[in-house]
Amino acid sequence: MTNKQAAKEKIEDLRKQIELHNRNYYVLSNPDITDFEFDMMMNDLMVLEKKYPEFVTPDSPTRHVGSDIEGEKSGAFFKQFPHKYPMLSLGNTYDIGELYSFDEKIAKSTEGNYTYSCELKFDGTAICLTYVDGTLSRALTRGDGLVGDDVTENVKMIPSIPQRLKKNSGYPREFEIRGEIYMPYKAFDNLNRQKERDEEQPFANPRNAASGSLKLQDPRQVAERGLECTLYHFITDRNPFGLHSEAIANAAEWGLPVSPYARTVNGIADAVEYIKYWDTQRKSLPFATDGIVIKVNELALQKSLGFTAKFPRWATAYKFKPESALTRLYSIDYQVGRTGAVTPVANLDPVQLSGTMVKRATLHNADQMDQLDIHINDYVYVEKGGEIIPKITGVDKSKRTANAVKPVFPKNCPACGTPLVRDEDEAKYFCPNSDNCPPQRKGKFIHFCSRKAMNVNIGEATINQLYEKGYISELGDLYKLNREKLLTLDKFKEKSADNLLASLEESKKTPFGKVLFGLGIRFVGETTAKSLAKKFGNINNLAGATREELLDTEDVGEKLADSLLNYFGMSKHRRIIEEMKSEGLNFANEVNISGTASEKLKGKNIVITGIFSVPRETLKEFIESHGGKNVSSLSGKTDLLVAGEKGGGSKLKKSEKLGIKIISEEELYKITGARP
Ligand code: IVH
Repeated sequence: MTNKQAAKEKIEDLRKQIELHNRNYYVLSNPDITDFEFDMMMNDLMVLEKKYPEFVTPDSPTRHVGSDIEGEKSGAFFKQFPHKYPMLSLGNTYDIGELYSFDEKIAKSTEGNYTYSCELKFDGTAICLTYVDGTLSRALTRGDGLVGDDVTENVKMIPSIPQRLKKNSGYPREFEIRGEIYMPYKAFDNLNRQKERDEEQPFANPRNAASGSLKLQDPRQVAERGLECTLYHFITDRNPFGLHSEAIANAAEWGLPVSPYARTVNGIADAVEYIKYWDTQRKSLPFATDGIVIKVNELALQKSLGFTAKFPRWATAYKFKPESALTRLYSIDYQVGRTGAVTPVANLDPVQLSGTMVKRATLHNADQMDQLDIHINDYVYVEKGGEIIPKITGVDKSKRTANAVKPVFPKNCPACGTPLVRDEDEAKYFCPNSDNCPPQRKGKFIHFCSRKAMNVNIGEATINQLYEKGYISELGDLYKLNREKLLTLDKFKEKSADNLLASLEESKKTPFGKVLFGLGIRFVGETTAKSLAKKFGNINNLAGATREELLDTEDVGEKLADSLLNYFGMSKHRRIIEEMKSEGLNFANEVNISGTASEKLKGKNIVITGIFSVPRETLKEFIESHGGKNVSSLSGKTDLLVAGEKGGGSKLKKSEKLGIKIISEEELYKITGARP
């Protein structure tokens, strides 16, 4: 492969990854990499695009801001409105040297003197407020920079944002002011504690908690989240102020929340002093900051410097490196997960990190332990990533003492004693005793009940209790639970018992493909389970299939075929399935939701967007039952966009641009001659 070809592939790969992480970050409020890792990826892409400008495309993530709209959670619910002025992002750097280059460019393109406004970079979610005649008239999220979600009702629930400005304080008749909504550490800790009590997935960090909270569908819940706001960007058609700092000081007079930490300085050297000060002092702030923003303070200069497609030329952000803490490792636990994978988890002397106390951190796997050459009693560096559990990133060997002991990765499963195995291409050791190893068995229930499988409303703690009490041992036992048994559990009252029983009853309607996924057969993921259900139609056909027949299925390779043969080869599994069948679970495809399925959508790649008269999952299943393929994002290969009632603004626009046919829900039913 030529260098150029390799670069093209790398560029495409980086774009795909960045778009995926953008969605995790902005739409799902659930990133799985650190900001630093993301910024490095973006930087690599920028460098490659600079070197190979022939591969630059207008839709590259280097050319547009990540979007918080789209997706089932937000775009479908909130109305969208265009921004009066595009809502852009900021260029950023981790390198002080680059700030001097930024300053040189500013100096070159300006004649007179200029000053900088230095500000904390609040780590939350951007908001744009419009005030008309002193009243808050609209609040929009950044969205894709051009169109944002209307979250006015939610924003009205944030105490520091006034719905009315101070009377006669001199505010302009109509203006916009932008800023950040964030969640202070204290509110974040309370929320996550509450989530853990309710057996819900906690938020990974205060920023995700803030963006997730702002997109809640019930404004009353927003009021309980303890959100705060700081406004840092004033915009009107005819700005009466000469300086940005002056505009912000006036906004404070009108009753708007602004940052008390901003300072105006005379040159880049003073801005760097400000950065150095806050790099350490930020640790004592009650909220998260991920850097410092430096803005040219003179509004006339800002105007003449202007914007690129993505950033203002008059401002930039210096980002702090991920905060790390040094602490002592006193032991390592080896945790066995649902699939039998064994993960080493470090127990640490508790240490403060990004506002929370850290006691445990992951070491990932045996290779990682070797690479770090980690010893018990070592001093180790801990960092917080996108996930809840922090990770160990290094060892301070200069602090190693005589009592340091090299840990030995266990040869046997710490939960059941079975010798561990490691496949050639796996980074992790596994316990192969999936049927009798307690954490794996409990994990099977967690997986079976999860949203993507049976969607039973039950938490991990309840599953643990049911297992410890001996009420559940095989999956089918869940359907033998009754009020009497449930009332013996901690914190279980009549209402919670009845809710769980109702949820189990409801789960019996789950289609075969999802039930199959819920069984937790090794390597059978969501998509494969669907393909298998589609091809074999029922469990008996699947259990009786030959290796060749299995291999002839979409997404099924050798490893998976062997895993299925192994699973159905065990009489115990066949017995469990029979039991669940008699409880009324679906082990066959239903004839069809509305009588006969058709091939009317055969070969069509279909994207759905907006709100429909039926749940989105039902609509997707309907499309598949008529031969269509659901795809999540629009591309040149998409054939149809089915647009629901509300939302989906950006998808509609993109479809029009790409020339993709847009149809309504009713038109879809007309084409198929059926409805779900
Ligand atoms: S100014 C035209 N000032 O950081 C750009 N942004 O990573 C105006 N942010 O999109 C942005 N604190 O959401 C500005 N003091 C501050 C900020 C700030 C946090 C956010 C903002 C921006 C993002 C860029």
